[in-house]
Amino acid sequence: MTHAIRAEGLVKEFKGKRALDRVDLTARKGTVLGVLGPNGSGKTTSVRILATLLRADGGYAEVDGFDVLRHPHEVRRLIGLTGQYAAVDEELTGTQNLVLIARLLGFDRARARVRSAELLEGFALSDAADRPTKGYSGGMRRRLDLAASMIGGPSLLYLDEPTTGLDPHSRNELWEVVRRQVENGVTVLLTTQYLEEADHLADDLVVLDHGRVISEGTPEQLKDRAGTQVLELRTSEADQLGLAIKVVEAVTSSPVSDDGLTARVPVTDSAVLPEVVRRLDEQGVAVGELSLRKPSLDEVFLALTGQPAEPQEISEETST
Ligand SMILES: Nc1ncnc2c1ncn2[C@@H]1O[C@H](COP(=O)(O)OP(=O)(O)O)[C@@H](O)[C@H]1O
Ligand SMILES: [Mg+2]
Repeated sequence: MTHAIRAEGLVKEFKGKRALDRVDLTARKGTVLGVLGPNGSGKTTSVRILATLLRADGGYAEVDGFDVLRHPHEVRRLIGLTGQYAAVDEELTGTQNLVLIARLLGFDRARARVRSAELLEGFALSDAADRPTKGYSGGMRRRLDLAASMIGGPSLLYLDEPTTGLDPHSRNELWEVVRRQVENGVTVLLTTQYLEEADHLADDLVVLDHGRVISEGTPEQLKDRAGTQVLELRTSEADQLGLAIKVVEAVTSSPVSDDGLTARVPVTDSAVLPEVVRRLDEQGVAVGELSLRKPSLDEVFLALTGQPAEPQEISEETST
């Protein structure tokens, strides 16, 4: 079996409103499946169904070959889910927290200690192991939470927006530890609103919008398939940028964005390039730099969903 997760046609309604509308998801073993989507698109609902915490109204899902409805206990044994099972006690140290959870999972004292030390090391928390967790930073807590979810040695790890609210440094550290888990053969289901995160971590992506899969593939495939490229232009003299933008707008009939130095516009036809050059020349604009590049995943996301992937603080997440 090559699929760690296979879901077909998942449907979920809340009070007659469709949160999931025939969602298909597949995660290959030992890879990261990224589920991308704006707020309310159905990411958490999908994760909860795959974690057996919520029952779908339709469709089918299996984890490592186990049907989530018929074999919920087997499924729960296979997965580590951050934020759900792991309850970190503020007064206890990192080590004490992990040892406690390990003991609850049936580890004897010696094995609980060894496993905790291994995980603290693996999650870059060794130095803080003997400090109460109430003094931990947001990033350290998130890593401890992740470590706690890994105690039982799950073969799948579900991460629902694991880095929301973290600073870039903590985010990078978390990516690092997630990558290490994948190297050890763990399959990861990752939901995120950060395109950069998806680009870094995910082998395959599913883009959700209003409960539907609107695109899927590798990050590169999504970029290629977007059917657009981005024209970037810098003028030799910064004060000519305004004029250059007018010229580009006239040629491409698309709104041009700029940061005061570089102007950017999506183009679907590379034939506009010589036309832009000719008109700029006519207007006496000296071009500093002109290029066509693949869209970023952010630009793909915007094109697909009509919304920028601006992550919002997730505070009113419904969980039971
Ligand atoms: N327990 C619930 N009761 C009612 N509506 C819900 C519940 N959970 C989620 N929803 C709705 O389902 C849709 C998908 O939510 P969710 O899966 O949490 O999206 P995401 O995680 O992508 O932000 C949203 O419209 C949300 O309001
Ligand atoms: Mg969510």
